Amino acid sequence: MAAFNSEQVLSVRHWNDTLFSFTTTRDSALRFHNGHFVMLGLEVEGKPLMRAYSIASANYEENLEFLSIKVPNGPLTSRLQHLQVGDSVLISKKPVGTLVVDDLKPGKNLYLFGTGTGLAPFMSIIKDPEVYERFEKVVLLHGVRFVSELAYADYIQNELPDNEYFGDIVREKLIYYPTVTREPFRNSGRLTSVIESGKLSEDIGLPPLNPETDRVMMCGSPAMLSDLCQILDNRGFVVSAGVGEPGDYVIERAFVEK
Ligand code: A2P
Repeated sequence: MAAFNSEQVLSVRHWNDTLFSFTTTRDSALRFHNGHFVMLGLEVEGKPLMRAYSIASANYEENLEFLSIKVPNGPLTSRLQHLQVGDSVLISKKPVGTLVVDDLKPGKNLYLFGTGTGLAPFMSIIKDPEVYERFEKVVLLHGVRFVSELAYADYIQNELPDNEYFGDIVREKLIYYPTVTREPFRNSGRLTSVIESGKLSEDIGLPPLNPETDRVMMCGSPAMLSDLCQILDNRGFVVSAGVGEPGDYVIERAFVEK
């Protein structure tokens, strides 16, 4: 188990029947960039059963936080959803990933597009004061099926703007745009639809997505990523080719096969 640390669960929150989040202790040697993921899991029949999880806490925070779906017959989440405070989980020692601000060219507005648990890495990014130094506006879109899946909505709207160190810059720069597809809500429709129809730019008062000024990070299902990439590519955005080769946008698949 040398590749993994054993961490203790400190809190568990169930958002609804399909979604929960939890916090754990953090090994003092664990370093990561906001937006990174780790392998996380449990020891099952003497072997580690691990899946990729984006870290939802920021890299300066004392504890780690994760957001997970509950898959009834999922090998890992059918077990993980029963986590209790004090239980142990395994966490890989080397966080990795492509969803990092360093792989973006400088720009004016940063768009964060997440669907479902694809919100998790952006929770880390919107808590990063450096992100607000680099961009004039940070626009977080969270697309979900049902209102109850809008995890952290209250935190984003009410707590983060009150942060004692950088609340003022969050109030000035962060635009949160949740949208729901399968029941009535103040914003409805898929992320792709609100972008294409012009509704997003109308609602938030910013011009349509443009590679001259805008940078994008996206995290969601393969279908969502493919549709969004198509929209961006059509507008002339160039994807980052990885470390050392920044682009106009970066991508990470939301890890849902749990
Ligand atoms: P919809 O309800 O129309 O399928 P999921 O839980 O399946 O990952 O979906 C999360 C959100 O992402 C839902 O609102 C869903 O809309 C939306 N979605 C699913 N596929 C796409 C896609 N190809 N492009 C944009 N949004 C998508």
